Amino acid sequence: MKPKILVIGAAGQIGIELVRSLRLKHGETSVIASDLRCPDIYSSDEYFVPLDVLDDSALRHLIIDQNITEVYLLAAVLSAKGEENPLFAWNLNMQSLLNLLEIAKDQLIDKLFWPSSIAVFGSLSPQFNTPQNCVKNPNTVYGISKLSGEQWCAYYHEKYDVDVRSLRYPGLIGHESQPGGGTTDYAVSIFYDAIRNNQYNCYLSEDRSLPMMYMEDAISATIKLMEADSDTIKVRDSYNLAGISFSPKDLANEIVKHIENFRIQYEPDFRDIIAASWPNSIDDSVAKKTGIGMRSTISNQWSWTCYLILKEK
Ligand code: NAD
Ligand code: SER
Repeated sequence: MKPKILVIGAAGQIGIELVRSLRLKHGETSVIASDLRCPDIYSSDEYFVPLDVLDDSALRHLIIDQNITEVYLLAAVLSAKGEENPLFAWNLNMQSLLNLLEIAKDQLIDKLFWPSSIAVFGSLSPQFNTPQNCVKNPNTVYGISKLSGEQWCAYYHEKYDVDVRSLRYPGLIGHESQPGGGTTDYAVSIFYDAIRNNQYNCYLSEDRSLPMMYMEDAISATIKLMEADSDTIKVRDSYNLAGISFSPKDLANEIVKHIENFRIQYEPDFRDIIAASWPNSIDDSVAKKTGIGMRSTISNQWSWTCYLILKEK
């Protein structure tokens, strides 16, 4: 049966690209985009619906009226922004997920995708090749909400047979949309500042290496996970997902190859402390073993990725 898809948080960094990919695959009428805000790209979009995901009644009505079968829940407050108002971040990140898990439990939808993050790990987790299962002690409200969310997903799957699927995304880098308040945002904004000003003030220290992934790889992994047979999905909290790892200094050295007079200054702030508690690299062998092809292709050629982004702008 053809899915009817709802993307919540469709105006965000991932949402814009995910909606585009899903519509290419399933057709425009099969993918409803929704968000609190309506940016220009959706202003004359017939299949955009304004929605506050915390309004449970409006959410249920939309799902029933549109005969939705699958939901991608992307609405959240990210790591850096979450620290400005921890209780607001906790409420949005948790209640949105619980609303959708209850809707899935009530069998109003067949499948739910909810992204987790490398932010679930902490200073006690192994820093290199961080495994699927290990100690996790997140130091941000965002990380705490993602770790709790993972456990809720596993709980609803085990108790109520809810078909919820999840990936722990690394920092995502794309050239179609802007990031919305994370610790890894520098890896996108550095390109814009390099092109506009030949210069970037970096809020992370120069050697702060983090796991990252090219957006196209993340979208492809997400769609593959959602298309897989339910019995192949053995992990119901969230799968580690890996692309590449690099530091601000590595990225700056690569940009200089394209913009000769590019300069970078380091002014580490609270985001550097968050980043210091996150892994340097991720072991995604469990995801690879599912055999559903969640491999990074473009991310591995990250200097090429830089070039592509620069060329596009
Ligand atoms: P984003 O901040 O760019 O987008 C989130 C969107 O949610 C925004 O458009 C916002 O308007 C919308 N939103 C906020 N409150 C809402 C509400 N009450 N109702 C409806 N919509 C609301 O975030 P993103 O980078 O696209 O991330 C999407 C998801 O992926 C999040 O769960 C995030 O934690 C996760 N993730 C992202 C990254 C990354 O690098 N971008 C990495 C790991 C995990
Ligand atoms: N990119 C995200 C952030 O920095 C990771 O989940 O918050």
